[in-house]
Amino acid sequence: MSKLLDGKRIVIMGVANKRSIAWGCAQSLMDNGAEVILTYQNDRLKRQLDRIVPEGTTMIQCDVSEDENVEKTFNEIHEKFGNIDGVIHAIAYADKKTLEGGVIDVEKDGYNLAQDVSAYSFISVSRYASRIMNPSGSIATLTYMGSTRAIPSYNMMGVAKAALEANVRYIATDLGPKKIRVNAISAGAIKTLAVTGIKNHGDLLRESEARTVDGESVDTVQVGNVATFLMSDLSTGVTGDLIYADKGVHLLA
Ligand SMILES: NC(=O)c1ccc[n+]([C@@H]2O[C@H](COP(=O)([O-])OP(=O)(O)OC[C@H]3O[C@@H](n4cnc5c(N)ncnc54)[C@H](O)[C@@H]3O)[C@@H](O)[C@H]2O)c1
Repeated sequence: MSKLLDGKRIVIMGVANKRSIAWGCAQSLMDNGAEVILTYQNDRLKRQLDRIVPEGTTMIQCDVSEDENVEKTFNEIHEKFGNIDGVIHAIAYADKKTLEGGVIDVEKDGYNLAQDVSAYSFISVSRYASRIMNPSGSIATLTYMGSTRAIPSYNMMGVAKAALEANVRYIATDLGPKKIRVNAISAGAIKTLAVTGIKNHGDLLRESEARTVDGESVDTVQVGNVATFLMSDLSTGVTGDLIYADKGVHLLA
């Protein structure tokens, strides 16, 4: 039986471990027939990934903090495998000090680092990925509703997500003529490595779960299923947009 993503080669960036949203995306995409290429930040994470990914899965190191790493990664993918059909960017970072206080306490270095890794990297990824992408390609990133609301403790990450979402809208117009669409998934709060960097993340997770329509947090595969839709030809009419995968938290908050 044919599957939704048969014949599609998709790069998924930001798998740290089995709790990662990127891993939920990988599972959903593979179940739906995609060939996936995973990128990871460093060797330490690769050792963890070796334990969870199916044998034969392609994994490439890519630290997005340098443009040349991103360019090299997509060149390597092109040389080894040819064109791609999509990319999922599931990467964010802010240092501990920057996340400790309010936005009023954020200093220039911390601000620049958070913006660089969490928002600028989406520009460089879109630039180099789009150069090797087939028409009807799809680019997606992960965001959170702290971009438009002042969510307690989310602070600097909310500022970075606001920039990321603006990037989505502008890059969608840049890449429209190439028939490449660009969207964001706004996921509900899920306990991952990234979330544990947020001060009082226990409260954030509890509050979020309590505000879901059914009292249970969204899980990474449910978010991944939205990524499958965005990577599939079913979403060719959707671009520059944001889809919530948070079980209605944004409606009730
Ligand atoms: N977990 C949530 O509640 C939630 C909700 C909404 C959106 N998101 C977003 O989902 C995305 C994935 O996060 P997650 O929650 O799965 O956590 P995660 O910690 O599993 O993933 C974050 C990833 O970012 C990668 N990363 C950080 N700096 C990097 C760099 N310089 N180069 C390359 N990779 C780098 C990490 O290695 C890690 O794989 C993030 O953008 C996050 O903001 C998470």
